[in-house]
Amino acid sequence: MTETVEEKLSIRTEKVEKSRLPEVDFENLPFGRVFSDHMFVADYKDNGWHDLRVVPYANISFSPAMSTLHYAQSIFEGMKAYKRADGGVYLFRPDENFNRMNISANRMCMPEIREEVFMDGLKELIKLDQGWVPGQEGSTLYIRPFMFAADDFIGVRPSDTYKFMIFTCPVASYYAEPVRVRIETDYTRAAKGGVGYAKTAGNYAASLYAARNAQKDGYHQVIWTDGAEHKYIEESGTMNLFFKIDGTLVTAALGDSVLNGITRKSIIQLAKDFGQPVEERRISVEEIDKALKEGRVEEAFGAGTAAVVSSIKTVGHQGTDYDLPPMVEGTFAYKVKETLHNIRMGKVEDKHQWMVKVN
Ligand code: COI
Repeated sequence: MTETVEEKLSIRTEKVEKSRLPEVDFENLPFGRVFSDHMFVADYKDNGWHDLRVVPYANISFSPAMSTLHYAQSIFEGMKAYKRADGGVYLFRPDENFNRMNISANRMCMPEIREEVFMDGLKELIKLDQGWVPGQEGSTLYIRPFMFAADDFIGVRPSDTYKFMIFTCPVASYYAEPVRVRIETDYTRAAKGGVGYAKTAGNYAASLYAARNAQKDGYHQVIWTDGAEHKYIEESGTMNLFFKIDGTLVTAALGDSVLNGITRKSIIQLAKDFGQPVEERRISVEEIDKALKEGRVEEAFGAGTAAVVSSIKTVGHQGTDYDLPPMVEGTFAYKVKETLHNIRMGKVEDKHQWMVKVN
């Protein structure tokens, strides 16, 4: 859908009367339950974005017939803001989130977001709530941009109206411990020709059942395999996957059933910078099974905005659990996690110019 009205956009700001910041225990942050003072909102109607505003974080009201509740025309992004020792607040590759959001929007028949709506809204919000960006080691401000269909109509067709919003939450790590994952060969997250590459709500709903079954059996998540044959490894929960086998780092090639993760992309770039051989290709379950049995999987980890670089402790397959070495100094996962952290915190040169200053 293309926009016909290119009106000059400005953002109005309504501040909270009293900040909730003093109530927050920054030493004990859960993931995704504490929300900062303000949120950004923009409305899409008559083929254009209107009424850009930063307002106090609050519930919103809508009709029970609002189409997103019924047909899931809903997309989102996940990104983070980092506070450096000098108080500078930085975003990591926000242009990548902006681009991916519009890729998702196109797939879901939603309007594209104008760059200034996304970027200016984001920066205004983060600047206003910069006190909410944690300074503690390992904690960050998680940012959730999202868009949903807002028509009050239950006929099945793309909505004419949408809301784009951004809220933020100070968070600690997503996984508190190294993860146990099981290769899933019955259920499917995403199919060829489907929406797996889009960051859309339904993909996450589709993932819950198999993940819950795995959790009942003591795993944190499943490793998704391709929907056609369940023969090829795709991704895991909210993460892209990497294995280091016989000295080479491998990750599933992108396609219409794999999310194009920004952490994934950054890790591939850093691997190249380090001179670490890295391959993006089809990875068969058979190959992984054989390498696990022969003890050739040197490392396995998940990568994502929320999960950062999360060590995989155990891979379960066909009733057998294979334990993997921990992510300790000297491993690739440790080095890449530390390097990402140091780039974000301004402790090493940001040679790919990934960081964008906000305040
Ligand atoms: C992210 O890493 O930002 C995600 O999308 C994970 C989220 C679903 C918790």
